Amino acid sequence: MITVFGSINLDLVVSVPRLPGPGETVSGPDHQSFAGGKGANQALAARRAGADVHMVGAVGTDAFAELALSNLKSAGVDLSTVRNLDGATGLALIGVEASGENQIIVASGANARVEAAWLDQVIAPKSLLVLQGEVPANVALDAMKAAQLAGAKVFYNPAPVPRMMIEELVSATDILVVNETEAEEVGRVFGVSGDPDDFCAKLATDDRLVVVTLGAQGIVAWQKDRVIRLRPPTVDVVDTTGAGDAFCGALAAALDNGRELETALKYGVAAGSLACTVTGAQTSAPTAEQIAVMSEKVENIGAFTT
Ligand code: RIB
Repeated sequence: MITVFGSINLDLVVSVPRLPGPGETVSGPDHQSFAGGKGANQALAARRAGADVHMVGAVGTDAFAELALSNLKSAGVDLSTVRNLDGATGLALIGVEASGENQIIVASGANARVEAAWLDQVIAPKSLLVLQGEVPANVALDAMKAAQLAGAKVFYNPAPVPRMMIEELVSATDILVVNETEAEEVGRVFGVSGDPDDFCAKLATDDRLVVVTLGAQGIVAWQKDRVIRLRPPTVDVVDTTGAGDAFCGALAAALDNGRELETALKYGVAAGSLACTVTGAQTSAPTAEQIAVMSEKVENIGAFTT
């Protein structure tokens, strides 16, 4: 069982010839609306990958709330602990350029008012609590402590990296997933460079798996004295939005399902690759069958013990 405690957004996406610089306006054709939010995206990705998923979070009382929850609802994610709070649903303004690279501005809305107490009665022993950086850091930390007390494991994807409490948050984490930019930001707090190996060597422990995602280059993962490097297959990239979320959701689902570490990581890489081939952060989340087929094409380029 996976519980995701995180953001739920409505994404407004515009395809642009290139992403704007500061003070610049760039035009694209029509916009498209998608359900999004890193929490909701990871919940959906884990569900599509085969896990039972409970979403804990909030939407507003505006017209975006229903659309933001629509994919989770139809996929069978348990939404009984998603609250409707007065005010606006979280909103993301996303530009996607021809290379698939994106730029995102988020208005937190109801996501800024989630409460860790909503997790009471929800987290079960031996389950997995999955969090990202789109809910307040102090609330995320309280949620992690609740998970520890309940005997659950904490899966943390600090995206975006919070400006405070990062040491406490990482200390309470069993599975840490960052991209290269996040590795640099988190590494700075721990006095280590963002170099993936330096970062993993510093933060991975006997009890903590650390994964650095490297986009088209794949991933590096360290746990105990084990290091795994995986390279994804080549795909036609349309939109990278949500690729990291697909990776996290599929990895969480595989670990929750008891998969061996290398297999679980391959499933994550396969899901992240597939997610780049479709526009939208949730529409692109692949099924368990698609992930299994694609995972055969993920290459292990150096598993070794330190
Ligand atoms: O990771 C992609 C997500 O980031 C989008 O769905 C958007 O809502 C922002 O939260």
